[in-house]
Amino acid sequence: MAGSGTGGAEGAAGGKARFDDIYDRPDPRTYFTRLAPLEYEIPHRAQPFFRQAAAARAALDDGRPHGPTVLDVCCSYGINAALLNHDVTLAEMYERYTSPASREMSTAQLMAWDKEFYAERRRPGAVPVFGLDVSGPAVRYALEVGLLDAAFTDDLEQGPPGPPLRRALTEVGLVTLTGGGSYVTARTFTALLDGARRPVWVSAFVLRTVSYDPIVRALAAHGLRTTLDASGTYPQRLFTDEREQQYAVAAVRALGLDPAGREEGGRFHCLHYESRPGMR
Ligand SMILES: C[S@@+](CC[C@H](N)C(=O)[O-])C[C@H]1O[C@@H](n2cnc3c(N)ncnc32)[C@H](O)[C@@H]1O
Repeated sequence: MAGSGTGGAEGAAGGKARFDDIYDRPDPRTYFTRLAPLEYEIPHRAQPFFRQAAAARAALDDGRPHGPTVLDVCCSYGINAALLNHDVTLAEMYERYTSPASREMSTAQLMAWDKEFYAERRRPGAVPVFGLDVSGPAVRYALEVGLLDAAFTDDLEQGPPGPPLRRALTEVGLVTLTGGGSYVTARTFTALLDGARRPVWVSAFVLRTVSYDPIVRALAAHGLRTTLDASGTYPQRLFTDEREQQYAVAAVRALGLDPAGREEGGRFHCLHYESRPGMR
């Protein structure tokens, strides 16, 4: 791991509740326990899209002898990597990490239990995954249990990547993002694309309360064209309270979107963007 940091774009989250205290635990139990009542579900929504994008990107011959690596940005405890490469659902992960059995365990015991669990459920054709997250404890857990092949804690909102991440970026062919659109900005994506040496695709689920336009422009400056998945919106989680809902409803209206049936119905919703090189 390289670098360290305390968080992404200050203020980007606006009136959204902060969960900083659950991001930097030595294992994911608190994360799942706190998010369960809020029905946080965006990694589950993203799972089929990330699997499809990873397979399609791996099938693209970019002239290299080995396949490209996925970089999961804001990877936390390796949740997207778990869902991408293992026969597991987010519902099973909630059950596992909130179970009485797991509550009894030390972190070391949980790690050993998880290592075996994910090894048994490893999918044929699993792809290499790197993780980027400012939380050292979270990525250490994901590395230890075998969900990530490498992890980096560089805060690209604050400065350029260190040498280990720079080297890793030369292997990346797909960038994935869930739950991070309020933390990382065009600064992070510019740094990632500056370091890329293979064609990079991006698949991102971003809250409707946040404009993705600056990132679309940063990607376009690197030759990537972004398309919005027009098939609908993807629920992220319930609001923590009425104040958070009022913030979200106002934020989506300010971006020209209609909160009816979505944020007005009590949940944050995401848009899904896919970016690919080529047509500018
Ligand atoms: C809501 S969690 C999302 C975790 C996971 N992707 C998911 O959807 O379950 C947000 C994550 O972003 C990380 N984060 C915050 N600022 C960041 C930054 N500048 N660069 C990378 N990660 C950051 C936090 O440490 C946290 O793990």
